[in-house]
Amino acid sequence: MKKIAVFTSGGDAPGMNACIRAVVRTGLHFGLEVFGIKRGYEGLIDDEMVPMKSHSVSNIIQLGGTILQTARSKRFLTPEGRRDAYENLTKRGIEGIVAIGGDGTFQGADVFTKEFPDIVIVGCPGTIDNDLVGTDFTIGYDTATNTAMQAIDNIKDTADSHNRLFFIEVMGRDAGFIALRTAIATGAEAVLVPETRTNLDRLVERLDYHYRRNRKTSGIVIVAEGDDAGGAVKVAEAVKQRFDYYEIKVGILGHIQRGGKPTCMERVRASQMGMEAVKALMAGEKGVMIGVVNNKVVYTPFEQAIKHHEDTNPVLLEMIDILS
Ligand code: F6P
Repeated sequence: MKKIAVFTSGGDAPGMNACIRAVVRTGLHFGLEVFGIKRGYEGLIDDEMVPMKSHSVSNIIQLGGTILQTARSKRFLTPEGRRDAYENLTKRGIEGIVAIGGDGTFQGADVFTKEFPDIVIVGCPGTIDNDLVGTDFTIGYDTATNTAMQAIDNIKDTADSHNRLFFIEVMGRDAGFIALRTAIATGAEAVLVPETRTNLDRLVERLDYHYRRNRKTSGIVIVAEGDDAGGAVKVAEAVKQRFDYYEIKVGILGHIQRGGKPTCMERVRASQMGMEAVKALMAGEKGVMIGVVNNKVVYTPFEQAIKHHEDTNPVLLEMIDILS
């Protein structure tokens, strides 16, 4: 293999730049030519590819977002889109790709490499949601949870000053990892996640218990955006009808969780994954996502990585019950 390319796709995630940098510099280190594809699969279809040199990735390890930009491509879902992408790669002689993204990205990669087996794709898990099988942490998850934690810490100050109960909605699509981790880190009174059925009676009982028995003067309930009871607005409305000890407010953190400087942990892990992805390509691996499980690098086939995410660790839910 002489020429490889790298792209980011799906929702951006802090740490993607560190990963791009690692792919480029590892590729150059081993004598490969490296191309950067802009806007994920969209750029592949539109032939937006630039040669990457060592200086192309200087001074980016600390930046959130992605210098290659990203997109959610509808055209790549069509055979015509994938055919155009294939032709753009072959005319340049690119044989290997490192795809940095989440489940949509790997789904696309899986279909594409089955149609065009002479192009090899290895993935790096890039999503704040942490919803991929085959890695303990996805790129972006640590930073997003730290960003959410800091925002919730700030809300706690004002909540307590006014005796208010806040329902804070965090991202995660249909996974509750961001919610669970930030709930533990901020000492939230309760957390609602899609992985477990939400029981509003039980939630109200719990808030009541905290108010009467623990004399709490304010409260935080973290609601994962994909929870079965609805978003934070809906849950807050339902609770308001039955529980009026505190004034109730809602906060939706939204895209603030996607931006910002990657944490130290993120930069190191993303760099490791990027380096390992190039080594995997050179070793002839294909159709796998690079992950780190128990501090060891593992390869997981795309179809397995995206199948369904890991279950919620019951110990983490227990921690919230016992420690709040
Ligand atoms: O997958 C990352 C994520 O931020 C999810 O948590 C969220 O549901 C979704 O992307 C939002 O996507 P968009 O930025 O396209 O609205």
